[in-house]
Amino acid sequence: MANDYMKADVKSPHTILDKYTALLDISCRLNSERNFDQLLKLIADEATKHVDAERATIFILDKNKGELWAKVALGVSDTIRFDARLGIAGAVLIAGKSLVVQDAYKSPLFYPSIDSITGYQTRNILSVPLRTPKQDIIGVFQVLNKREGKFTTEDEHFVHALANQAAIALENAQALADLEARQQQLIQENQDLRKEVEERFTTRTILGTSSKISDIRTLIERTAETSVSVLITGENGTGKELSARAIHYMSPRRNKPFVAVNSAALPETLVESELFGIEKGVASGVERRTGRIESANGGTLFLDEIGDLSLTAQAKLLRVLQEREVEWVGGRRPVPIDIRLVAATNKDLKEEIRQSRFRQDLFFRLNVIHIRMPALREIRADIPVLATHFLRKYAKEMGREIQVFSHDALKALTTYHWPGNVRELDNEVKRAVVLATGREIEVQDLSEAVTEERLTTPETEDSGKGSGEKQSLKDRVTTLEIQMIRDAMAQTDSDRRRAAKVLGLSHQGLLNKLKRYGLED
Ligand SMILES: Nc1ncnc2c1ncn2[C@@H]1O[C@H](COP(=O)(O)OP(=O)(O)O)[C@@H](O)[C@H]1O
Ligand SMILES: [Mg+2]
Repeated sequence: MANDYMKADVKSPHTILDKYTALLDISCRLNSERNFDQLLKLIADEATKHVDAERATIFILDKNKGELWAKVALGVSDTIRFDARLGIAGAVLIAGKSLVVQDAYKSPLFYPSIDSITGYQTRNILSVPLRTPKQDIIGVFQVLNKREGKFTTEDEHFVHALANQAAIALENAQALADLEARQQQLIQENQDLRKEVEERFTTRTILGTSSKISDIRTLIERTAETSVSVLITGENGTGKELSARAIHYMSPRRNKPFVAVNSAALPETLVESELFGIEKGVASGVERRTGRIESANGGTLFLDEIGDLSLTAQAKLLRVLQEREVEWVGGRRPVPIDIRLVAATNKDLKEEIRQSRFRQDLFFRLNVIHIRMPALREIRADIPVLATHFLRKYAKEMGREIQVFSHDALKALTTYHWPGNVRELDNEVKRAVVLATGREIEVQDLSEAVTEERLTTPETEDSGKGSGEKQSLKDRVTTLEIQMIRDAMAQTDSDRRRAAKVLGLSHQGLLNKLKRYGLED
C-alpha cells in the first residue's frame, strides 16, 4: 500500500507518515472502546476528519434479516434499515470491493430513499466493505461529500485501512455486548430458578394438619438458623428427603449446595472415594475426583440410608464431623470443610448399634436433633389433605377436570394401611387420575389393594419398637380413635360437623365419642 501511495500521490512523505500515525492512534482508541455506539461515533468522526468529508455512515449487516441498518444520525437512537441488496452500500456488500461514486444522483446504483429519510443531500460517496480478519463482511462504511474536489486514491486507501480496524473493533464490541446480554439473562434465570427451588422446599411443602406433622414443621423452622446435625428417621416414603430439603432451604445455607448421597446405592468399593474424594493415581487409571462431602461445602450434606454405611466409612465420617476436615483417599493434606449434616434412615439405629453394625459415637453426633417422620397410617387425618393435593396436581398436569374424590373412594383411602406411605398414596392418586372417567375419583378407580382392605386391626405408632409396652387390642383401638379424633378436630379448627365428615362418622356419633373420651373442649 505504501508503494501505491508513492506512485499515485504527489503529496510529501510527511503527510503520508501523518496519516499512518493517525491510523495507529485511531486503532489504539478503537481497541479500547467497548461501547458499540461510541465506536460508531469514533469511526465516523475520524474518517470525516482525515478525508475532509461532511459525513460518514456505518451500515451494519443484519445477516438474519438480510438487511443493512445504520443510525439516522450518530447519537440518535433512530435507525434506518433497508434490503441489503439495495443502493451503493448493497453493491459494495455484494462485490466485497470498495466503490467511489463522484456524482451520486447520476449513478444507477444510488438509492435516493435514504437521503429522503435523513434529509441529507448526497453528492459523492466513498464506500468500502467492513471486513474482519476472517474475511467476514459485517457491513459497509461510507464517507459522503468531500468538501473540496473529489475523493482521491489516497482517501480510498485511508478509509480502507480505517475500515479494517473498525471491523475488528465493531466485531469485538458486538461479541462483548452479546456475551453481556447472555450473562445478564443467565444471572436472571439463575435467580428465578433459585427462588423457585427455595419456594418449592420450605416447610409449607410438608403438608398435613395433624399434630405430628405440625410439630415437625415447627422443629424444622426452629433449627433452621443453626447448623446442628439432624437425624431423620421413618419408613420409606414418609417424607424424609422432603424434610431434609426443607431444612436446607430454610437455613442461611440455602444459596449453597444441597448434596444428597444415598449411602445404600454406593458400592462398598466406591463409598470412600465418592464421599471423601480420591487423588489421581491411587490405583492405576484412577482420576482425581472431589468427594461429595467437599462438594457440599458451605451447604448441606444429606446422607440418606446412613444405616447402610460401612463401619470403615462411618469411622471416616465421624472424623470429618469432629475435625471439620476431609481426608482424600491417597491425599496428603486434609481439606477444611463447613457442612451441615442431615442424615436419614429407615433402620432402627439403636438396634443396629446393639448388633455392632452402627457406631454409637457417630449416632450421638448425628442425633443432635431427631425428627421422626410418622408412617401415613399414624396420621390418617392427613390423608384427605394429601390425597387432594396430589389429585389437584395430577389433574392439572394431565389436563383433567377432576377435583374431588367420591365419599367411598376417600373412605377407602383413609382406611388403607399404606405400607409405602405418602409415596404410595401419591402413586395411587396418580394412577386414579389416569383411570378415572368421570369428574370425581370413584372407588373403582382405585387399585384392588386399597379397596379390599378394611380397617380391622389398626396399628398404633411404632408398634413393638417405641416404649416396648404391650397394649391390648382394645387399648390400641382406643388410642388410635383418640388420635384420629384429635387430628380431625385440629384439621377442621374444631368444627364438629366437618370433623365428623372427615372421620366418616355421624355428627351425633362424634359427639358421643368426644364425651366418652373427655375431649369436649
Ligand atoms: N407431608 C408431606 N407433604 C407432601 N408431600 C409429601 C409429604 N411426605 C412425603 N411427601 C411426598 O412423598 C414422596 C416421598 O417422600 P420422600 O421425602 O422421598 O420420602 P423418604 O425420603 O422418606 O422415602 C415425595 O414425592 C414427597 O414429596
Ligand atoms: Mg428417600
